[in-house]
Amino acid sequence: MPLITPIIPVNDDEPDPTAVNQAAGILRRGGLVAFATETVYGLGADATNPEAVARIFQAKGRPSFNPLIVHADRVEMARDCVLQWPESADILARCFWPGPLTLVLPRAAIIPDVVTAGRDTVGVRIPDSGVARALIEATGRPIAAPSANRSTGISPTEAWHVSNDLDGKIDLILDSGQTGVGIESTVLDLTTSPPRVLRPGSITVEQIREALGREVLGQADRPPEAQPHSSPGQMDVHYAPRTPTFRVEHVAVDALPREGRWVLISLGETSIADASSMGRPDRHIRLLTPTEAESSLYSHLQSIDLSGIDFLVIVPPPDEPRWLAIRDRIWRASRPWPAGRQDSANGE
Ligand code: TXA
Ligand code: MG
Repeated sequence: MPLITPIIPVNDDEPDPTAVNQAAGILRRGGLVAFATETVYGLGADATNPEAVARIFQAKGRPSFNPLIVHADRVEMARDCVLQWPESADILARCFWPGPLTLVLPRAAIIPDVVTAGRDTVGVRIPDSGVARALIEATGRPIAAPSANRSTGISPTEAWHVSNDLDGKIDLILDSGQTGVGIESTVLDLTTSPPRVLRPGSITVEQIREALGREVLGQADRPPEAQPHSSPGQMDVHYAPRTPTFRVEHVAVDALPREGRWVLISLGETSIADASSMGRPDRHIRLLTPTEAESSLYSHLQSIDLSGIDFLVIVPPPDEPRWLAIRDRIWRASRPWPAGRQDSANGE
């Protein structure tokens, strides 16, 4: 493992074959390479090599019970990773791949236990990024890749976020700039009937229902006691900034902080989106639409962590389906204001 992880710039539209082949060589030899997908940067290893995949867990400090998503460059490779390929998978692959939708299906024998945390299912997707698909094609194997951050930290949307977290712990970073979608893929379990969203993302449950023409359960429809481990990565402390982070909902403006250096992020057209009427944040970031929020929220959180401010206050967007994924991430990154303010930050 290099002391300092090299970062090679690559163009996503026309990835330089020399850089891609170098990265593919590392993966074939069992090493770790970070690369951009359309959602967030992933930390890749050869999904068919258990020792290589074990290194991902070590580098991230990830608990071994949290399964990884396997990435393919085309549908045939995705099908090789699963035992059954139902018609619903076919329809969704045609509608949404390449793209930010992960399908959980019965696992094939080429995928070792360490990838799926011993489960008999595996999550697969085809990412919509030129670099990711060129890398998988050059490697010739499916690539297991969680988000390329320390476990429980914020998912990286730029190469420097990755090196900040994992420098010296991984073999190479391919830097193809900022990711477009900006939050992790929607995870859909196709092994249950009806199918169930395990993690909301930019592809909404409504879009999936429409594509399949049948009922699909959203995450909120899931009785927590029914399937406690159905999506083991969905732990409460996740996606958390190091900066103490609070959310305020329907709060009187007077109740907002009047001391300390803090940043305000407001999402959607909220009633208190005008910072001038509040205590004095150092900075007010307004994210008006779900697309804008998804593409930039993590970048803002990463910069805020570097800025040394005392705390971050988030005004969440309205409880509407199109904001579901962002609300999910905000709830995991924050605690309510002011109740939890005296506690230590986010369990980091
Ligand atoms: O957009 C994404 O999905 C990014 C990029 C790199 O593809 N990857 C990502 O991976 O976010 P990660 O490891 O940070 O999150 C994977 C999520 C976790 O919540 C995990 O529990 C869930 O997918 N998952 C993976 N395999 C599963 C399975 N067999 N059953 C249920 N949940 C699964
Ligand atoms: Mg992650």
